[in-house]
Amino acid sequence: MQDSTKGIRLQTDRTSYREHSVPMFLTSSFVYHDAEHAETMFRGQGEGDIYSRFSNPNTTELIDKVCAMEGAEAGVATASGMAAIFNTLAAHLRAGDEVVASNALFGNTTYILKNILPSWGIKCTFVDLSDLGGWETAITDHTKLVIVETPSNPGLELIDLEWLGSLCKKHNTIFAVDNCFATPIIQKPLTYGADLSIHSATKWMDGQGRVLGGIVVGREEYTSPIFDFLRRTGASMSPFNAWILSKSLETLELRMERHCSNAQKLAEYLQNHDRIAHVNYPYLANHPQHDLALSQMKMGGGIVTCDIRGGKEESFAMINRLQMLSITANLGDSRTIITHPYTTTHSKLSAEDKVKAKISDSTLRISVGLEHIDDIISDIAQALD
Ligand SMILES: Cc1ncc(COP(=O)(O)O)c(C=O)c1O
Repeated sequence: MQDSTKGIRLQTDRTSYREHSVPMFLTSSFVYHDAEHAETMFRGQGEGDIYSRFSNPNTTELIDKVCAMEGAEAGVATASGMAAIFNTLAAHLRAGDEVVASNALFGNTTYILKNILPSWGIKCTFVDLSDLGGWETAITDHTKLVIVETPSNPGLELIDLEWLGSLCKKHNTIFAVDNCFATPIIQKPLTYGADLSIHSATKWMDGQGRVLGGIVVGREEYTSPIFDFLRRTGASMSPFNAWILSKSLETLELRMERHCSNAQKLAEYLQNHDRIAHVNYPYLANHPQHDLALSQMKMGGGIVTCDIRGGKEESFAMINRLQMLSITANLGDSRTIITHPYTTTHSKLSAEDKVKAKISDSTLRISVGLEHIDDIISDIAQALD
């Protein structure tokens, strides 16, 4: 089955009502035939659900779809993308463990690694995504977990997943990839040797900016401790959100194709604009890792970042002149969104960390939507001109 078919056809068993579209299972708990059945279920020997903090038909359907799309054995659905990242780290790490992470990560992931984990006795080392020698030195037999984003938010830097995957294997280290920017349609990290692929389902998976959600899929050996941690600590995905997200997966491939073709056209337009100093898009020939992007990513992605000539003042003036684009911190929506990461999503990073994550006060992140490309370009053109 192809990804588009998996997103549409993998669904929860039909109920006795013979519905065509899967219903929402808005129930906190599930009933048992008798006391013996309840005992069997709590012993973990029965089929089906017990309580929606643990599992629910809607979350199971969503997890099964993402597993099928990514080629994963098992998965866990969480309340948000950050819950997916935090539960992954918290379930696997103990005092004394060491983590190696990339400098270019979503701001809150960096916050957890820099501020929360060290206070629990977990050491975190940071490496530039493109510094291959740095990864070789930082990852040792003491490293418990490696975490990267590729493409990174918002710098759109990449790392060769196959290369990093084999380095992690050599040191027997858990290799986790935040695959949010690529989605399973564009990139399947597990096929390159990652053990866990993490998503903020809030972004492209939802695709319409409605609900929060997170998913971790991968080798069962590594997802199962996350499931155990989550079912006890409670950051589970709600059945309602799972229902929305599962329906959204029915159109993910179709939407990503349009997001990516719009993004490519916008990147090419911006590249030739004299008010833009630099454009960053993995499928542009001038991207420093263009060849890697072509081999590792099926399409270029829906995010374009650029540096406007000038600084914060010029960036704000351009943003404020926009008439159609939305000014918000989300991404992966059907509506095109502009964000100034320096003062919003990544504002809590130190000046030094912003430089490492390739964010300046002239950086603009554009999440390219599904509107007609002529309308997107025309709004940006009038704001720049
Ligand atoms: C790459 C990446 N990972 C994780 C997250 C966190 O996701 P959520 O907002 O669903 O918690 C984000 C949010 O922007 C993100 O961009």
